[in-house]
Parts: sequence; structure tokens; C-alpha cells
Amino acid sequence: MRSKLLHVLGGGPWQLPTVRLAKALGHRVLVSDVYADRPCYALADHHQVVDITDIDGTLQLASRYRIDDIVCDTTDIGVATAAHVAEQLGLPGIGYETALNFTNKGRMRALTDRAGMVVPRYRLLDSESGLTECAAFVAYPLIVKPVDNQSGRGVSRLLNGDGLKAAYQLARSCSRSGKVLIEGCIEGKEIIVDGFVVAGRPRILGIAHKVPFPDTVTVSSRIHYPGALPAAEFKLIRAATCRTLSALGLRDGVFHGEFMVRGQDVVPIDVAARGGGVMIYTHVVPHVSGVNVNRAMIQQALGEAVGIDPLPVPKAANIEFLSMPPGRIAEIVGVDAAAAVPGVVAIHFNLQIGDEVGPLEHKDRRPGYVVSLADTAAQAIDSALRAKSLLRVRMTGPGSYLPIT
Ligand SMILES: Nc1ncnc2c1ncn2[C@@H]1O[C@H](COP(=O)(O)OP(=O)(O)O)[C@@H](O)[C@H]1O
Ligand SMILES: [Mg+2]
Repeated sequence: MRSKLLHVLGGGPWQLPTVRLAKALGHRVLVSDVYADRPCYALADHHQVVDITDIDGTLQLASRYRIDDIVCDTTDIGVATAAHVAEQLGLPGIGYETALNFTNKGRMRALTDRAGMVVPRYRLLDSESGLTECAAFVAYPLIVKPVDNQSGRGVSRLLNGDGLKAAYQLARSCSRSGKVLIEGCIEGKEIIVDGFVVAGRPRILGIAHKVPFPDTVTVSSRIHYPGALPAAEFKLIRAATCRTLSALGLRDGVFHGEFMVRGQDVVPIDVAARGGGVMIYTHVVPHVSGVNVNRAMIQQALGEAVGIDPLPVPKAANIEFLSMPPGRIAEIVGVDAAAAVPGVVAIHFNLQIGDEVGPLEHKDRRPGYVVSLADTAAQAIDSALRAKSLLRVRMTGPGSYLPIT
């Protein structure tokens, strides 16, 4: 029997686990990506240079190869493409309209509002006209963001009207569709909920607390999976997650959602129909839940039976983001020793030697992070902090090795 051909959108380092796993499960893989040189190409059976946001080009490619299914489980930018191609070819998928609901924060906000959930006041802007009136309607503190970007790009939090125009223009410059969302800032505790839906039944596989950087509250300094939550808190979070997923229409597949918890309210902020970044999808969720959600995604895409059977008591994990002093990185030391700390499974640097450490404009400007897995919350944080304490950076110019904090 001919093995199945899975089309994976994106051929960069973050798609390597999906391509590797699909191959290990005995499937053939087609990878497409806008760049000519990508790490996944060497592992894939076939690769083609096609922009993953090019819906028609990707459909033509998929038809030509007679794929068995298509996934985009690691980045928002190809989620709608994968859904459209699957729909057109009659293959399993989340549906194009559903994909738009999960990749456009304007639609997300309107649908969760219409479903009767607690949501902040909001306004969608096509142009700068009416900006001041919209901000007054929404009321400060407020958030200005592009409807269709990710990683905190173009997201600002304003306490008053100073900088409103600049925040709009920044969001506008990061918006693919040109639309900008202004919404009330929910003050509370931010959580991340990861999980998987099978035949309309959502299973929650990880709940984390996001701790923001004090001076850039839209970017997290720590993502912490504490293990089991008090039953009442879990129930509230599960109910809000199920309502959100139902409002947005996800009947099958992986999800990664951000919510603000304010008293009894669990307010949806941003929900994606893909796995979480910073190794949440590949390392953290499988550990805390015992479910290899990446494998479930591939099985579901290829029409195979999917069993989601999480651990009765979740385990703990921690993602600790690194800060470095401003300047240009000349050398980073201590990485091997830090990686050898028990419980540490990955140390990743977004910035390399020669890169400039600058302001935290968005999440990818964080210099790097340490991922630790453990049985208990305290162990997970302890491993991360021990690993971090072993790292040093030397910046170019005169100066010595400085701690990475
Ligand atoms: N309405 C809001 N209230 C409070 N915080 C918000 C709100 N909207 C966004 N944020 C903060 O900004 C971060 C980034 O915004 P988000 O909508 O998730 O955009 P992105 O897709 O770029 O991640 C969120 O994780 C959250 O910390
Ligand atoms: Mg987000």
C-alpha cells in the first residue's frame, strides 16, 4: 500500500518536529515554504518553494502532488491556507471560515461577544479616522493591536491618550488586512490553555500562568505550568475554553488560547488553531498531559482514529525567558552546564552572537528561554533558575562577563 503524503506548511526549524514525526510514523512528507533554503527540506520526500500564505498557489501544489492531507500546526500564517486546501480537496480540516475566526482577532472578538461571553469593549478600525472617539468609547487603559499578526507584534497597552496615534500606526503597520482592533485592557492574571478537540469535544491538556515583564506587560517573562489547579478554578477555565471554541467553531484539532482571569470571569483574548510556540506544543504539553498532541494532529489530519487520554494529575513545567543587558552580543558562556541541570530540556536563543539586544518590542525580541519539566511546580522553577544562574554574556566593547537574568 502506498504510504500517505502529508503536506506540511513551513519548512523552518519550528516545523522540524512535525516533519520528523510524520516520517517516523511512516508517512511521506511534502514541505512548502517561501524560502529556497529551509532545514525541513532535507528530511522531506518533496519540497517546493511556495509562500504558505498563497492560498491558490498552495492548492495547485497540493493538487499536483495528490496529497492525503495538509497541516499548519506551528504558525498562524498558514492556518487559513491549510484549511482552504483541505476543504477544496475534500480532506479532513477545520474549515476555511473557522480558520479565519482563529486568525483574525476582530472576528474572534465579535464571535465571543455574540456568544454572550464576558469581553472588553472593542472597536475595529479600517482607518485612522474616528480613532480618538473609538478610544474614548473603549476607555483607558486599552490595548491597540493588529487583527492578524502574532507574537505580540504591533500590540500596545495605553494608560491614556498619549501615544494613541503612534500605537495605531504601529498596529496598522503590522496588520496584513490593514484592520486594527482597539479593546479595553482586562486587568487580571493571564493564562494559556492548550488542548485538542476530537469530534467537537475539547480536551484540556495544559494550563499555564503567564507572568509579564514589569515594563512590557504584553510580553511574558515566565510561562509556568503549576500542575493540578484547584477544582473550582479548573472548572471556570474549562467552561470558558469550551464556550470560546464553540463560538469560533473548532470541531477538531489542536488549540492554544490566551485568557485573562479576573475574579470569576475568564475572558478570551487570543485563541489559535495551532500548537503553542516556545516548545509548548512539542515539549511542554506532552510532558504535563502525557499526550503527544503533535502525533494526534498528524493522525487526525490523515483520517486515523485519535485517542486523547491525559494524565489524571498534570505534571509541572516552566519556560523562563532570558534578559540581557543592552548592546551587541560577543559571547555567551555556560550553556552546556545550564543544559545539564536536571529537568532542563532545552535552552534556546532567539538572538545570536553579533545580534543587538534592544527594547522588547515583541516576543521574538526576547534573547532566549529555558524550558524545564518536572513533577512539581517548585522543581520546575528551581531547575530553570539554576540553569539561568549558570549563563553569562559578554557584550562587544570593553567589559566583562555579565549575568543573564
Ligand atoms: N484586551 C486585553 N487585555 C489585557 N491584556 C491584553 C489584551 N489584549 C492583549 N493583551 C496582552 O497582550 C498580549 C499579546 O496580545 P495578543 O492579542 O495575544 O496578540 P498576539 O497574537 O500578537 O499574541 C497578550 O498575551 C496579553 O498579555
Ligand atoms: Mg497572543
